[in-house]
Amino acid sequence: MEFQEKVALVTGAGRRLGQQIAIYLASIGMRVAIHYNHSEEGAQTTLSQMQGGPDKHGLFSADLGDLSQLKQLIDSVTENLGPISVLINSASVFYPTPPFSVTEEQWDDLFNLNLKAPFFLSQQVGAQMKSQGEGKIINMADVSAYRPWVNFLPYCMTKSGLITLTEGLAKALAPQIHVNAIAPGTVLPPLPGTELNQQASIEQSLLKRIGSAEDIVAAVDYLLHGDFLTGIVLPVDGGRSIY
Ligand SMILES: NC(=O)c1ccc[n+]([C@@H]2O[C@H](COP(=O)([O-])OP(=O)(O)OC[C@H]3O[C@@H](n4cnc5c(N)ncnc54)[C@H](OP(=O)(O)O)[C@@H]3O)[C@@H](O)[C@H]2O)c1
Repeated sequence: MEFQEKVALVTGAGRRLGQQIAIYLASIGMRVAIHYNHSEEGAQTTLSQMQGGPDKHGLFSADLGDLSQLKQLIDSVTENLGPISVLINSASVFYPTPPFSVTEEQWDDLFNLNLKAPFFLSQQVGAQMKSQGEGKIINMADVSAYRPWVNFLPYCMTKSGLITLTEGLAKALAPQIHVNAIAPGTVLPPLPGTELNQQASIEQSLLKRIGSAEDIVAAVDYLLHGDFLTGIVLPVDGGRSIY
């Protein structure tokens, strides 16, 4: 698949991994829809670092927990930039939920953002891709989909659901559209409030370090350019999944 001048949508592109993936997609000539929710300033930073100048790309805000905003997002991207050829589902929520005190509100928040939103985004974008005869979808999963962390159980369940979604969509959208996932270990320092211990992540990996955004960008590059890949989950975790 050729990427020059085609349209990519990256959710959660106003910070961290989504931001770096969006900047990479611009560097291969794509027109990038930078999605954000609260990180407007970060989204502007993403735009300012992109090849091709600001007019080639666009900023789009939406709360992906709200299905009607999600639908408006796709309509707005399509109207302003054109039909979407690459979808990167990177936006997610992540916070501790000890199993015996998880609330229904937390459950709904985690499942809405991490699983329901990628499903309905893929449903809408997948239909567009089918009519274009090509497309690539990449879902950001997590090593914890396979090795559940007790204090983050609903989060881990959303990520294992995302892997099932990846495999199911790969079947549903074959042969024109390729759907894959990346399962990172710790690749960026944990955010405050997540109660993750970076040192523990390092000790529980084979390579004894955390990764980097560049490691994830390299995986995105591989999945986009590999034309015989669909329905796979690529671990980028320094060996943590087999530790
Ligand atoms: N970082 C890691 O080491 C790591 C490890 C394993 C898996 N992952 C996965 O990789 C992906 C990116 O990770 P990250 O660390 O870069 O994520 P992050 O810093 O937690 O960013 C999450 C993104 O999700 C967006 N978001 C949250 N709630 C939203 C809502 N209601 N509506 C729309 N967008 C919303 C945020 O947008 P705003 O800021 O604009 O509100 C933000 O850009 C995630 O799927 C994560 O699970 C990351």
